[in-house]
Amino acid sequence: MSLNTALLAETFQRAQQENGGAQALGMRFYQRLFEKYPAVRPLFNTPPEAQHKKLMASLGAIVAGVSNTEKLVPYLHAMGIRHLKYGTEAAHYPAVGENLIAVLKEHLSTEGSWTDEMETSWTEAVNLIASIMIDAANQPEQFKGELTAAGYEADGFKPADPQPWLLAV
Ligand code: HEM
Repeated sequence: MSLNTALLAETFQRAQQENGGAQALGMRFYQRLFEKYPAVRPLFNTPPEAQHKKLMASLGAIVAGVSNTEKLVPYLHAMGIRHLKYGTEAAHYPAVGENLIAVLKEHLSTEGSWTDEMETSWTEAVNLIASIMIDAANQPEQFKGELTAAGYEADGFKPADPQPWLLAV
């Protein structure tokens, strides 16, 4: 993975401090997602108040783990395969990606700055994350060995871990 990891980390750190922090960003993410893409609303059973914490934790893990691909890639494959159970389709990823970039931009430009470089770095990161998740979701059986070695079940869950979106790096 060749991404502007320093800029991703810096902006994610800022996102957690500025304009109401991670809570405001996460809540706005689902508010805008459901407004702009109402078709995905029925897939979500967990209320946004709880769901946004999982999303923010996974983004934090991804941003922290971009230089540790050995751990991050199986994590993303498992997450992509888990999303099959949530009814997620490949066609939903551009909507979720567009929404994430839009809310990050809104959030960070309220108190500070949002530059073209940030937009490019986040777009590249989101596209890469989506492609890794979709790749696994398209052919889960191909990833069974990798998932088992990393402690996941074939469906991407970890039997003894109720929070598989967390990643220690
Ligand atoms: C950037 C890519 C994405 C990331 C990082 C992400 C992150 C997460 C995380 C951390 C969870 C918590 C459960 C778990 O880890 O298994 C989750 C659940 C979920 N995600 Fe995603 N997701 C992404 C893309 C999508 C897309 C494209 C959709 C389609 C609309 C989607 C729909 C859902 C649904 C429906 C749930 C379950 C919600 C519930 O418990 O009711 N996600 N996601």
